[in-house]
Amino acid sequence: MSDNLKRAAAERAAALVSDGMRLGLGTGSTAAYFVSAIGERVRGGLKVVGVPTSEATREQAQREGIPLTTLDETPELDLTVDGADELDDGLRLIKGGGGAHLREKIVAAASRRMIVIADSSKRVATLGRFPLPIEVVPFGLKATEIAIAKLLKGLGLSTDLRLRNGKDGTPFVTDSGNFILDAHLGRIEKPDVLAAGLNAIPGVVEHGLFLGLATGAILATGEGLVELGQ
Ligand code: 5RP
Repeated sequence: MSDNLKRAAAERAAALVSDGMRLGLGTGSTAAYFVSAIGERVRGGLKVVGVPTSEATREQAQREGIPLTTLDETPELDLTVDGADELDDGLRLIKGGGGAHLREKIVAAASRRMIVIADSSKRVATLGRFPLPIEVVPFGLKATEIAIAKLLKGLGLSTDLRLRNGKDGTPFVTDSGNFILDAHLGRIEKPDVLAAGLNAIPGVVEHGLFLGLATGAILATGEGLVELGQ
């Protein structure tokens, strides 16, 4: 069921793509349906270029035959389509469940439009039930962890942070060679204040709060598609 919903949202987003577009290609299981739908259209003659937001998406896009570019060659994009772990009615997001939010945010910020595709279970009244991924540089990990814990305490939030471990107990390493701390917050009442606080900690590379980046969302429900913004 959920896979059908993801595919439905992705195919609707793919229908918004036209010749000449410069695309940001998101990461995750929902975005993978979009990449696959674009691949099919490219093989049918659609002319686009894409910037992948992760190595996994790069590999998929290459298999699909989608012409790829970089933000160095193509620094301005027309449309990014990506999944999300949570979104609220103000199109504020939590992303990074797959650990790709650093590149995802850079690509989204370089795009004129960012459309989120998801099944409607990702829609929440208040962000924060999904643990907020915070990408940190390995150097000074402990000091950064303490600085984040202090910030969260000041905001009245829980400081239960964890290092995401791989199967063999080693830390999860992002495409950019960093670690991720997942902050279990429950409710984020003031995402902008939290984002500003995290941005001010030197060891924090990027966090999964996407504020003011998404311009639209396509949410698949059992009864059909719901579209927010554009
Ligand atoms: C990866 C992401 C994904 O977009 C997010 O985790 C949603 O993934 P999925 O579509 O598999 O539920 O932010 O960093």
